[in-house]
Amino acid sequence: MRQWLLAAACAALLVIPGVGAHAQIVIKFSHVVANDTPKGKGALKFKELAEKYTNGKVKVEVYPNSTLYKDKEEIEALQLGSVQMLAPSTAKFAPLGVKEFEALDLPWLFKDDKTYDEAMKGPVGQWLFKKLETKGITGLAYWDNGFHMVSANKPLLNPADFKGLKFRISGSKIADRYFRDLGAIPQIMAFSEVYQALQTGVVDGCENTPSNYLTQKFHEVQKDITVSNHAHLQYAVIVNSKFWNGLPPDIRKELDKAMAEATDYTNSIAAQENKDALETIKKSGKTTLHYLTDAQRAEWQKAMRPTYTWAKGRVGQEVLDLIAKELHVQM
Ligand code: LMR
Repeated sequence: MRQWLLAAACAALLVIPGVGAHAQIVIKFSHVVANDTPKGKGALKFKELAEKYTNGKVKVEVYPNSTLYKDKEEIEALQLGSVQMLAPSTAKFAPLGVKEFEALDLPWLFKDDKTYDEAMKGPVGQWLFKKLETKGITGLAYWDNGFHMVSANKPLLNPADFKGLKFRISGSKIADRYFRDLGAIPQIMAFSEVYQALQTGVVDGCENTPSNYLTQKFHEVQKDITVSNHAHLQYAVIVNSKFWNGLPPDIRKELDKAMAEATDYTNSIAAQENKDALETIKKSGKTTLHYLTDAQRAEWQKAMRPTYTWAKGRVGQEVLDLIAKELHVQM
C-alpha cells in the first residue's frame, strides 16, 4: 500500500504544472487589450518564441481582452501567483506600491517617439524596475503603444471645452490631475467597461491610443477625437519574482531571449499599428478627427502645467529629478 501511494505521488508530480523534472511549465499571460494591437501581438510573439526556444518545455497561455481578469484583478492575481505574466500600462502601477511610474504620465513629457525610447531603455526605465523588485515583482521589458488622443461628443480644442465633462482614466493620479486642471471630472474605470460607459453616457469622454480606440470601437461612440498626443501609453511586462527566479536557469535564459525578441518586435510595430488604426478610424466616417494648432497646444500646456508642481507630492522629487536630467525637461 505504501509503495503504491509513493508511486501515485511520483506520478502526480510529473503532471502538476511547474513541478517535477519533466513537467511542462505553464505561463499564464493575461492582458486587457485585443489581440490585434501592439501589446496583443507582442504577447503572441512571446508565446511563439518562448515555446520554440524551450522546445515546448514552456507553454504560454495568452488571455487577451480581459477574458481572465480586469485591470485591478490581474495585478492581484500576479501577486497571488494565479497568473505569471502581465503587461499593464505603467499608469496602473500604484496598487503595486510604486507610484513613481506615474511620472511617465506627465503631459507632454516625451517630445517624440525617440525621447520616449531613450528614456525607457536608459536610466529612467532601469530605476523604475529597481523600485519594483522590493515588491516581489520583476520587470522584464517596456512595450510601447504611442501617444494618447482624447475624445468626447463635442470638439475638444480649447481648455474651456473640457469644463464639466466626465472622462474615464485608467488609474494614474497624474492623469486625474491634468484632467482636473482642464476643468474636467476624471473617473477611474476598468478598460473593459469603457465602451459601454461611453455609449450610455456614464462618462462623456476618454483618452487612449488609436489602436485601442479602433479595436474597442470607442470611435463609434465618440463624435469628436482630438489627435492631441498629450500623454504617452507604455506597458511594463512583469512577472512574479518568486516564480521567475524559481525557473531552471537554462529555461529562464531561453525565456529572456524570447522576451528580448518579442520586445523588439512590439516596439518596432507600435508606431505603424497606431498610424494604420488612425487611418481606419478616419475612413470609417463614424467620428471627426481634430488636430491642435500650435496656439491651441500652447493653451493646453499652460492649463496642465500645475500638474508638474503637484506631481512632486505624488511621485516624489527623486524620479522627477532623474527624468528632468535624462530628458532635458523642466519640472
Ligand atoms: C487603458 O486602460 O486605457 C489601457 O491601459 C489599456 C491598455 O492596456 O492598453
